[in-house]
Amino acid sequence: MSDFERLAERYRTGALPWDQELPPPEIVEQLDSSEAGTMLDLGCGYGRASIYAARNGWQVDAVDFVPQAIEVAAERAAAAGVGERIDFHCESVADLAFLDRRYDLAVDVGCLHALDIVELRSYARELARCLKPGSPFLLYVRLASQAEPTGDGPRGIAEELVRQTFDDGFTLDRVRHGVTQVEAADPWSSAWFYFRRRDD
Ligand SMILES: C[S@@+](CC[C@H](N)C(=O)[O-])C[C@H]1O[C@@H](n2cnc3c(N)ncnc32)[C@H](O)[C@@H]1O
Repeated sequence: MSDFERLAERYRTGALPWDQELPPPEIVEQLDSSEAGTMLDLGCGYGRASIYAARNGWQVDAVDFVPQAIEVAAERAAAAGVGERIDFHCESVADLAFLDRRYDLAVDVGCLHALDIVELRSYARELARCLKPGSPFLLYVRLASQAEPTGDGPRGIAEELVRQTFDDGFTLDRVRHGVTQVEAADPWSSAWFYFRRRDD
């Protein structure tokens, strides 16, 4: 089963532990402490980060490759009265060449760790193109010593590979390691990476 099929199946069956009203506290903290601007939400799911940002005055582009995610996210944004502040795109984050805005902030909560090496390179290149110099990029991933399929969960990505992927064009301000417990499943290692687009 491809990653797309695995994720589309989750949306079909409602197996979506990330479907919470609010984005994670790390995203809330970032949005609450920044002036509103333009934001890119990579792998937006049902749009919880995008909707929170739009409520705080941000103009958002939100990308996910599962049509059902984008449809429901757009409905939720409209119901929250912020539909006009978010442009939803049913596309892969592995090909972001279609984006023509420049962003003050980019976030990825749980998407990048599903990408292969070719997709990672494209993602980092396009993000470097459209994130404004000095702007933050907050990334949450499942950590794994080696990228390998983990049943129905995300594959995970090695910390070293995350660092290498963004070595060109980004500064890593800090990493916060943690453990993620999803329902009754075994807990897994995870991390928040606080990158910043380098001024070059
Ligand atoms: C763990 S979910 C998190 C969703 C959302 N960021 C949140 O926090 O609620 C990861 C999301 O990334 C999306 N995704 C995974 N690979 C993708 C790709 N190559 N292109 C676009 N979206 C992708 C999935 O469809 C899913 O909605």
